[in-house]
Amino acid sequence: MSERKVVTVTTAEAKRQNDIMLELAQHLQDKELKYWLQTFGCQMNAHDSEKIEGMLKKMGYVKANSENEADFILYNTCCVRENAELKIFGKLGHLKSRKRKNPNLMIALCGCMMQQDIVLDTLKKKYNFVDMIFGTYNIYKLPELLQTRFETQENVIDIWEKHEHIVEDLPSIRKHNFKSCVNIMYGCNNFCTYCIVPYVRGRERSRELNDILDDIKKLVNDGVVEIMLLGQNVNSYGKTLTPPLNFANLLEHVAQIEGLKRVRFMTSHPKDLSDELIEVMAKYPTICDNLHLPFQSGSSKVLKTMNRGYTKEDYLELVSKIKLAIPHITLTSDIIVGFPDETEEDFEHTLDVVKEVEFISAFTFIYSKRTGTPAATMNGQVDETVVKDRFNRLIATLDPISARIMNSQIGKTETILVEEISKNGNNIYSGRTDAGILVHVELPENKIGQFVDVKITSAKTHYLNGELI
Ligand code: SAH
Ligand code: SF4
Ligand code: F3S
Repeated sequence: MSERKVVTVTTAEAKRQNDIMLELAQHLQDKELKYWLQTFGCQMNAHDSEKIEGMLKKMGYVKANSENEADFILYNTCCVRENAELKIFGKLGHLKSRKRKNPNLMIALCGCMMQQDIVLDTLKKKYNFVDMIFGTYNIYKLPELLQTRFETQENVIDIWEKHEHIVEDLPSIRKHNFKSCVNIMYGCNNFCTYCIVPYVRGRERSRELNDILDDIKKLVNDGVVEIMLLGQNVNSYGKTLTPPLNFANLLEHVAQIEGLKRVRFMTSHPKDLSDELIEVMAKYPTICDNLHLPFQSGSSKVLKTMNRGYTKEDYLELVSKIKLAIPHITLTSDIIVGFPDETEEDFEHTLDVVKEVEFISAFTFIYSKRTGTPAATMNGQVDETVVKDRFNRLIATLDPISARIMNSQIGKTETILVEEISKNGNNIYSGRTDAGILVHVELPENKIGQFVDVKITSAKTHYLNGELI
């Protein structure tokens, strides 16, 4: 596969799409069209969806209150595990009859799942009522694709094999006005043997430092106080830039932006996490004391077949170094059970890591076979009942540790950024501590987007309750 060293950043392309948006907006202005966008998968997709919504709004679409009242339904899809794909096919089954009753309903699919040939074939054969299909590299082309759909009255399918450029300066609707995600890089070069992401998101490419810093400064001027830097593996940020930079350099710049109160980032790959990064994290109070550090498996044998590039010992050593430098840090992780050829002994190494590191929480996954990845054809796929049993034992090990850490917070005073009204009842709001722990607190008035001090009064496994002080 050929690698592109230079990434073309084109504002000219953004301008072209912008012109089409304005044209369409004029054309559609009296129609009062409503859209419904549903996002599946990770923060990358969520962030792409903010751009999609920004473009839709600029073209005159208004957000529908429900899928049922929408004239344009879009699903931004994920394919990281089989379940994610089954969900989409299930939803498409429902849409088929709606489309039959109302041929004017427009349906678009985009995102990671669309980048797989096998999915595209199935869609063409069985779901040819879908009006528009595009992928992960050409989201910015939505206006042009929509225009083509209107003009030709034919279904539009536009999937690219690889990225052409990073298009900056697209409109975007942010979900929150006080916090925001910022992409620092796209794609992944790691090819963990179970993972489909490198195939559907392409090779790693980093955004220019100044583009990132300018974005963040603009956001801060708009009232944003918390930034999440996003990348599949932020620790390899900057390798493709000329001259090369590293993530620690970038983070240090971001941490010093005036007015910015909190910086988070994800995801960190253990094999690339440098001492320099740990130093920067320890040095700047704006960098939150939380690290998402997926270890996937505790068995060095499994890690090798996963192509993760570190051993159990490397991981534990790295964690000790981090804890020594940043004593209050909370750690979270991603863990897979049932990878091909995982024995009981391998799995026990995973439990060992969980016990030794003491994660505050972790995303736990049952291995899911992804066609096209090396692991899909590996021998020794593990029996389903064995995997389920291991999965339950993993949760039973993680939960008491989370509960213990949460209990140890009782009585402490914490500053939380209030994020939303909690589902738990009137005047109860939820926010997060610097370390990323969810706290519910009763407030006399709406303080969403503001920092408040709370005293922690009680704890559950995955959240805390507090009182305003
Ligand atoms: N780039 C990030 C995460 C990408 S996907 C990283 O490397 O950490 C998020 C998580 O999904 C992964 O960390 C992994 O735990 C899980 N995952 C990916 N592919 C999977 C598969 N085929 N089966 C089960 N879990 C998977
Ligand atoms: Fe997938 Fe591994 Fe890349 Fe993460 S680092 S996206 S798990 S290939
Ligand atoms: Fe994310 Fe799913 Fe794509 S996890 S990168 S949306 S395959």
